Amino acid sequence: MDKDPKSNIPNNHISINQIRIFDTTLRDGEQTPGVSVDSEHKINIAIKLDELGVDAIEAGFPIVSEGERKAIKTIAKQGLKAEICGLARSVQTDIDAALSCDLKYIHTFIATSDIHMKYKLHMNQDQVLEHAIWAVDYAKKHGVQVEFSAEDATRSDRNFLLKVFKAVQEAGADRIDIPDTVGYATPCYISNLVKEVSENISLPVSMHCHDDFGLAVANSIAGINSGATCAHVTINGIGERAGNASLEEFVMSLHCLYNKKTNIQTQLLFETSKFVSNTMGIIVQPNKAIIGENAFGHESGIHTHGIINNPLTYEPISPELVGRKRWLQAGKHAGAHGIKAMLNEFGINPNDEQLHQIVEQQKTVADRGKSITTGELLSISGQIMGNKKFDEKFKLHDFHIVTGLNIIPTAVIQLSSEGKEFITSEIGVGPVDAALKAIQKIAVEVANIKVREYRLDSITGGSDALAEVSVKVEDNLGNVVSSRKSGADVVVASVQAMMDAINKVMLRKVLES
Ligand code: KIV
Ligand code: ZN
Repeated sequence: MDKDPKSNIPNNHISINQIRIFDTTLRDGEQTPGVSVDSEHKINIAIKLDELGVDAIEAGFPIVSEGERKAIKTIAKQGLKAEICGLARSVQTDIDAALSCDLKYIHTFIATSDIHMKYKLHMNQDQVLEHAIWAVDYAKKHGVQVEFSAEDATRSDRNFLLKVFKAVQEAGADRIDIPDTVGYATPCYISNLVKEVSENISLPVSMHCHDDFGLAVANSIAGINSGATCAHVTINGIGERAGNASLEEFVMSLHCLYNKKTNIQTQLLFETSKFVSNTMGIIVQPNKAIIGENAFGHESGIHTHGIINNPLTYEPISPELVGRKRWLQAGKHAGAHGIKAMLNEFGINPNDEQLHQIVEQQKTVADRGKSITTGELLSISGQIMGNKKFDEKFKLHDFHIVTGLNIIPTAVIQLSSEGKEFITSEIGVGPVDAALKAIQKIAVEVANIKVREYRLDSITGGSDALAEVSVKVEDNLGNVVSSRKSGADVVVASVQAMMDAINKVMLRKVLES
């Protein structure tokens, strides 16, 4: 019998079972440099977060603008299951702005570290204490739930921090929050701090950790492990500078490594991550845990072999748990087992000698620094197995694009399908649009295949950025197939992704017939 891979983990000493998820994607997440989300998009994200099952949504910082207040007010009116909260400094203008959004929950904060008090607030400890008490008291008098954050708590004098927390407790705060504002703490430090706070304060404690040293999730878990019952997190870990603790990583760690529960519908994690990434225009790094493109991708022969025998070998959690699928890549390190599994998916069963030749040929291509598309792999297999059925159904021969300031972008595409040559031209709003329309024109004519989705991400910054393109196509039977391609030339990557997707969906049809 297989041994549960979790059984060796001696870590299960979190004392409470249900952890509260306070999502701040729409507030701290929106503070990601260069990001600003309009009202409509904020509301859409709030609805997605609610479906995901977060317990609280920090919808924004009401004082910042009229548009922000409008969006927060609309979110508060949606009748969502999650509690809706707004951020306010410990001053009347901010709290009044939050109250004007009809919120029932206000998150107020003031910095308590020497460095912030001296260089930012220009206040001494007594003044900060007075502001904190006043703010909590004022907000409570308006009948709302109040969470109090001591900004830069982890760099604050411990005695002063405890004094402020005790004072806001007496002033009526409902919750306190410990921000590691500059991600400066270590898990050990957080454990010690949270224990001391919990011994002195009877209110529920939240953690708010930033990721400047990549420790935000570890620190949030350390806080939970020592008595905190809630964490402030963001989708995809977005936020100021290096971001906040990532909701996906935090939740999956709690569920899988610590056997703790949250209300999160984990199968919606990937979908929500994509939604936020697309809506806010912030790309998720490919190797990001849980939601990164490569998190469930396997390239090397050793790994794919293991995965095929038993996914537990190289997958600590099953991809379906977070709404994903595993994929195998026919790259330079791919071995016979992985290639065989990929071919088997298409109903192709080469014998040992054929498989050996397919792998050799695929490695020759990979050695040239070119990642092989599924269509190409199938075509190689077809040639080696002497079966024309697996040939690429559409072969791209060439394409030309004309674009410019006073020219309507125009693409001319030349391709062949089953021995027939096609040349067609199309115009579009840009060169990619023109090229895809031209290919689609032929694909519709020959096989009734249409583009359903096109997505372009820039993987790196700068004018030489690598573009990553995803294309989804659909045939007349409703089969949907996607393909991804990356390259420095966005038009070439788009055309290749489109061709690959068309070939894949065509082949599926052939194999099913
Ligand atoms: O990081 C931080 O300290 C904050 C506060 C406003 C809680 O975001
Ligand atoms: Zn923050």
